[in-house]
Order: sequence, then C-alpha cells, then structure tokens
Amino acid sequence: MTKTPATSRLFEPARLGPVDLPNRLVMAPLTRNRAGADGVPQPIMATYYAQRASAGLIIAEATTPNAVGQTYPDIPAIHDPAQVAGWRRVTDAVRAAGGRMYLQLQHGGRVGHPDNSGLTPVAPSPVPLPETIHTRDGRRPSVVPREMTADDIRSTVADFATAARNAVDAGFEGVEVHAANGHLLHQFLARNTNRRTDAYGGTVANRIRFVTEVVRAVADAIGPERVGVRISPGVTVNGIEEGDTRDIYPALVDALADLGPAYLHLVFADPDDPLYQEIRAAWPGTLIANPNLGWGGPLPADGGREAGERLLAAGADLIAFGRGFMANPDLVERLRIGAPLNQVRDQYAMYTGGETGYTDYPTLADSRPDGEAPGAAGLRDAA
Ligand SMILES: Cc1cc2nc3c(=O)[nH]c(=O)nc-3n(C[C@H](O)[C@H](O)[C@H](O)COP(=O)(O)O)c2cc1C
Repeated sequence: MTKTPATSRLFEPARLGPVDLPNRLVMAPLTRNRAGADGVPQPIMATYYAQRASAGLIIAEATTPNAVGQTYPDIPAIHDPAQVAGWRRVTDAVRAAGGRMYLQLQHGGRVGHPDNSGLTPVAPSPVPLPETIHTRDGRRPSVVPREMTADDIRSTVADFATAARNAVDAGFEGVEVHAANGHLLHQFLARNTNRRTDAYGGTVANRIRFVTEVVRAVADAIGPERVGVRISPGVTVNGIEEGDTRDIYPALVDALADLGPAYLHLVFADPDDPLYQEIRAAWPGTLIANPNLGWGGPLPADGGREAGERLLAAGADLIAFGRGFMANPDLVERLRIGAPLNQVRDQYAMYTGGETGYTDYPTLADSRPDGEAPGAAGLRDAA
C-alpha cells in the first residue's frame, strides 16, 4: 500500500501543558502592523486569526508589554484595558472557530524609535541598531538607546508579568516570551549589544540572567505550563552578533528547564546542527521547531512538509510555519492532502494596514466554484 500524504505525524494530536492540540502544526508569530495607533487590536485581526484556526496552535504576533518596548507603528500591545478588550475579541473569534492561541510578548529594546513609541528606546547598553528603522513616515536613522538601570530592569520584568496576566484575561491559553530575533531579551544575550559590567553583563551566567528573570516572573504570574520561550541561536537579524552561541544557549536552556515552561521554540531549526541536537537532548519539555525555509524566498512546493517531518524525526514535538500560514489560511488541510499552496503575494502587504495581503488569501474551497477542494477528488480516487 502506498503511503498517502495524510499519514504524516504532523497531523497527530499533541498536548501542550493543559491544552490539547488537534495537530502538530503551529502558526509562527507574524508581525502584521494591523493594530490601531494605540496598540488596540482591530476587528480585522479577529477575522485573520479565525481564518487560521485549524492550526494546532496559533502564536499571535509580537505584542508590546509596555510603552517603551514598542518597535514599529501599529504594533499591538497588551498593557492597558482597551488593548486587553481588543485581544479578547480576537481570542473569542478564534475559539468560536475551534482554535487555540498563545500571545507572543516582545519588547523591542533598541529596535524602536521615538517616532513610533514617543519614547527613547532602552537597551542593555547604549549601542544603536546598525540600520535604519521603519516609522510611519518612512525609514529613519536609528537612535542610541538609553542603558537600562537596575530599576528599569526590575520594572521591565514586572511589566512582562503583568502583560502575561493580561493575556490570560484576554483569553489566551498562554504567552510566548520573545527572546529571539534581536529584540530586547536577545540583546541581553549577545555580546555586541550587552556591554554591561554589572550582574547582567559579561559572563554567560550574567548575560542569561535577564531572560531567566523575565521567564521566572511570567511563570510565577500565570503558571509555567502556560509559558513558552522563543530563541534564535546564531540568527544575526537586527544586528545581533552573539559571539559565543555555542556557550550561551546550552546554559540558557539549562536555566530555563529549571523553570519548567510549557515549551521552547527554536527559530530556523536544523536537525543536522549539533547545537540543535544538544538543545533537544537538554530540553525536557515540548520543543517547537521552525524550519528554515529561506526567509523571504518562495515557499517550497511541499510547504515545508518534508522539512517539518525531518524535524519531528529528530525529536521536535511541534512544527511552526510562518509565511505558509500567512498565505494559506487552510495550510493544515493543504499539507494534509498535498494541495498546491498560495505564495505570499506582496512583500509590502506584510507590514501595511488593510485587508489586501492579509484576510484575502483564498482557501481551497474558495478557489473552486463548487466548493470542493482541488486535489480532494484525486485523493478520493486513490483511496
Ligand atoms: C512578515 C513577518 C513577520 C514576522 N514577525 C515575527 C514576530 O512578530 N515574532 C517573531 O518571533 N518572528 C517573526 N517573524 C519570523 C517568523 O515567525 C518565522 O520565524 C519566519 O518567517 C521563518 O518561518 P517561515 O519560513 O515558515 O516563514 C516574522 C516573519 C515575517 C515574514
């Protein structure tokens, strides 16, 4: 008997902390700049996420835990009641469509601009982003961030904990602490952005301290079984040069494991990379792996299914896809039956407002006047 596409482990159920997932496909967090200028999620975001509710888990886009942590214009936030109410509309819509959601908490650190947040960005050290930054009026030179004081560190940790409580009040199953992709927590980990000489800088033990304090505070606030952490070892986006990737991540993973969060989420996971194997062996909990499909390039014809299956075979528990879910609201079904994928249509619509390139990607059923998914007849005939 030939193996049909539907037999993959990707479509097996899984459990994440207290949450049952119907399949192992996770929608990766994707910043889409569709909130209001006040950080309040807009109704269109409820439509967008509800369209994608067949994902085993949705991790909603990077969301700001305090005012100074805002990165770009129209990024959602979760530090005031209107923002919580806006997110509640989104989680209600996703739940009504049968889905489950975590919220990613992101403080941008030096990835921010006074034109976006009204405030001077803060960071571990006064080292500016070596690039221009997107503002409402176009790209602007980055500014030198203010070095965080001990009080800033304490209040930022507390802000993450409050934001996590707000997220649970807004109906999320849990939160993902964003320690990846060059944002504030990653800036503490990396040598080139952390030049501190106090207990938060210098040695590996000191540079992982802030991340572990944030995760501990968030876990204390909502329970470790509702907390995930995203890391991106070796990823140089936003001007990051970690310097000692092979030392810092094993130490960080050990420290996080002691706190018992629900999952660790690895960006650009490569099953052949010894660091991946080391992290998998050291991490006792659920591992979400986001395969490297070539950031910005076309989606592979199989939607990353083979890459995902290789990672599952190499010990990952759940597989996250970003652009696949962006362009295919019914990605799970398309992967299950081996149907062709929509490609991301317009790079610019990723980060601009409105429906275009956001809620207007068709499902398989939309593409056929009779409502039958292309490929379904072929599969039925083969069965
Ligand atoms: C438009 C866009 C927005 C993104 N926003 C976020 C984000 O908010 N938080 C995050 O951790 N990663 C973000 N990423 C990275 C994705 O989560 C993912 O790691 C990346 O797209 C690679 O996965 P893919 O090849 O399946 O798309 C973003 C990527 C894209 C293309």
